[in-house]
Amino acid sequence: MSVIIKVMDDGPYMVIGNVDLVDMNDKKFQFDESQQIALCRCGKSSSQPFCDGSHITMEYKSRPRAD
Ligand code: FES
Repeated sequence: MSVIIKVMDDGPYMVIGNVDLVDMNDKKFQFDESQQIALCRCGKSSSQPFCDGSHITMEYKSRPRAD
């Protein structure tokens, strides 16, 4: 199965599918692999690289569309 990365309006990247998420040292981030993961796009999450909902309080606005 391919992985889908969905750009959410005013929010995170949702990663749909089985992936390994690693840091610059190739160490894996731990997360529940049975669930989708949300990666912060706004830069304000206190639990990087994951979204913690901070984009809502900062009223992050970004709604890119593919052509
Ligand atoms: S996108 Fe949700 S906290 Fe940054």
